[in-house]
Amino acid sequence: MARILTGIQSSGRPHLGNILGAIIPAIELSKNPKNESFFFIADLHSLTTLKSGTERAEFVRAIAATWLAFGFDHNKNVFWRQSRIQEHAELAWYLNCFTPFPMLANATSFKEKSEKLADVNAGLFTYPVLQAADILLYDANIIPVGKDQKQHLEMTKDIASRFNQLAGKEILVLPEPKIDERIMTIPGIDGQKMSKSYHNYIDIFLLESDLKKVTKKILSDSKGLEEPKDPDNDITFKMYSLLATDDEIAAMRSKYVAGGYGYGHAKQALYEYILEKFAEPRRIFNYYMENTAELESILTSGESKARAIAQHTISKVRDVLGFSS
Ligand code: ADP
Ligand code: TRP
Repeated sequence: MARILTGIQSSGRPHLGNILGAIIPAIELSKNPKNESFFFIADLHSLTTLKSGTERAEFVRAIAATWLAFGFDHNKNVFWRQSRIQEHAELAWYLNCFTPFPMLANATSFKEKSEKLADVNAGLFTYPVLQAADILLYDANIIPVGKDQKQHLEMTKDIASRFNQLAGKEILVLPEPKIDERIMTIPGIDGQKMSKSYHNYIDIFLLESDLKKVTKKILSDSKGLEEPKDPDNDITFKMYSLLATDDEIAAMRSKYVAGGYGYGHAKQALYEYILEKFAEPRRIFNYYMENTAELESILTSGESKARAIAQHTISKVRDVLGFSS
């Protein structure tokens, strides 16, 4: 039995990149009966960059509703908000004292963020330690994440080993990252990596009229309606290919190459495809966004499962540190 654990920060509404690159693959892993999945919303981490409480609460609901919309089985697995389990913050403090300062100072993600952001706070600096606590609290074995998270996972192992060395035994379980190289980077409407921070994302849960507006904004070259077009250098075609079947992709490819088919037609086809393909997730997402009491009760019951496990780990850690006697 492998314990899979992953978290998504509540720093925005989930977009097509998050869904295809993280949420759907993690749910697929969770369907293996040999796996037990621990998926949580990293709302404490989101405080490093997002200060508005109103926005955070909205994004937490949207992320929770997205996991459920794509079929995450919250009864079989464990599903919670990081902030509701105080042991995350408690363990992060203990682990801070096992983390060498240069390890954090040299972290690539910290360096990148501190160049980009105006607010370079201490939370941003110790971000990987809180992430280590998230993982180590639950004895997680496999952590599915994007390539950018590899260094954070190495730090987690390093910090856990330092703690275990003090303890003289394996109190904290060393996890393994699971970086799926097959998962491609989903392009945004401007062709760069789709990201909340680049404002180039497609939110598949938008109202139909707004979704249509976003798809119309996808960048394309200036070829006229009649001209033949190169599907391999077009963002709309790339996005369509990420969603459609092989036959549908081949049919769309022929239309591009033949000419007489404009980018406007392709964007309309993509828009309709998104609506059709995600009709059920859109329905479930809207249901939970409207029935927030039900969403709350799902999370609360997940939190009691998470809390029991977190409390067990923290009591072992407190014993080692002399905080329980
Ligand atoms: P963002 O760049 O929008 O802030 P996050 O860094 O919060 O996204 O990523 C959350 C998860 O979604 C991560 O596992 C990340 O690898 C995945 N992800 C984000 N953007 C993409 C993308 N464009 N293509 C594939 N996966 C992505
Ligand atoms: N840092 C991760 C990201 O930005 C989110 C995260 C927080 C996480 N805690 C985690 C991922 C624990 C995996 C395990 O994508």
